[in-house]
Amino acid sequence: MSSGGAAARSGEGSPGEGAFVPSALGTREHWDAVYERELQTFQEYGDTGEIWFGEESMNRLIRWMQKHKIPLDASVLDIGTGNGVFLVELAKFGFSNITGIDYSPSAIQLSGSIIEKEGLSNIKLKVEDFLDLSTKLSGFHICIDKGTFDAISLNPDNAIEKRKQYVKSLSRVLKVKGFFLITSCNWTKEELLNEFSEGFELFEELPTPKFSFGGRSGNSVAALVFQKMSSGEAAESSSSLLSSPIVYRN
Ligand SMILES: C[S@@+](CC[C@H](N)C(=O)[O-])C[C@H]1O[C@@H](n2cnc3c(N)ncnc32)[C@H](O)[C@@H]1O
Repeated sequence: MSSGGAAARSGEGSPGEGAFVPSALGTREHWDAVYERELQTFQEYGDTGEIWFGEESMNRLIRWMQKHKIPLDASVLDIGTGNGVFLVELAKFGFSNITGIDYSPSAIQLSGSIIEKEGLSNIKLKVEDFLDLSTKLSGFHICIDKGTFDAISLNPDNAIEKRKQYVKSLSRVLKVKGFFLITSCNWTKEELLNEFSEGFELFEELPTPKFSFGGRSGNSVAALVFQKMSSGEAAESSSSLLSSPIVYRN
C-alpha cells in the first residue's frame, strides 16, 4: 500500500475474506520506523512528511463536514493519525474538540511537535492501539480513518480477526447516529459496505479521482461516509441483509 497504490491481493481466501498479501505495512514496527525517521526529518528540516492520499483527501473530508453543517464543537477522533496533519487542518478550520490516536509513539511525538510548531492548542493526542483500547475513549460524533484500516488489513497475524476487532472498536467509540469517514486504497466501495455492514449504514459516497488501466476505468481510492445505527435499526437491517448480494472476489 502507498498513498498512490493498492496492496497486492493474494487471490486466495474464501469470498469476502479480503485476502491481501500480508505485509510489513501492517505492523507496528514498520510504522514506528517510518515515524522515527519522519520525526528526525521534521526536527532537522521542518518537513512534516507524507500526507496519505494527498491534500485533496483532507479537503474532501472538511468539505463534507462543512456541507453537513457539523458543529465546530463536535468531538472528532482521527484513528491512526500518523503525523497529525489532518488534526492541524481541522483545528485551522475551527474544530475545537479533536483527538488523534496512533499506536506508534513516534507518530504521536511527531504530531505533537507539528501541532506545537503551528501554535495550536486544544488538540488531544494519545498513544492508543485502536484494536486494544486501554482507556475510556467513547462518545465521538465523528471518526476519521485515512489509511489505517488499509494498514490493519495487511497485518501478517490474522488480519481477518483484526478487521472484526476494528469494527467492534469503532462501534464502541462512535455515538449512535455518529459518522465514520473512511478513505481507502485497498478496498472498493462494495467491499467496505460488506466490512461495515454490522451496525453501520452508508450515508454518502464521496467523489474521488478515477484512473484507467488496461482499458478499464475505476476508482483508485474509495471515500465513504457511514452512519452508526441504533441497536434497533441494526437488528432490522441485519434481517434484511440476508437478502442482499454477497461480494465475491476472484
Ligand atoms: C497509512 S498511515 C495513515 C496516517 C494518517 N491517517 C494519514 O492520513 O496521513 C496508517 C496509520 O495507522 C496507524 N495504525 C495502524 N494500526 C493501528 C492501530 N491498531 N491502532 C492505532 N494506529 C494504528 C499507523 O501507525 C499509521 O500512522
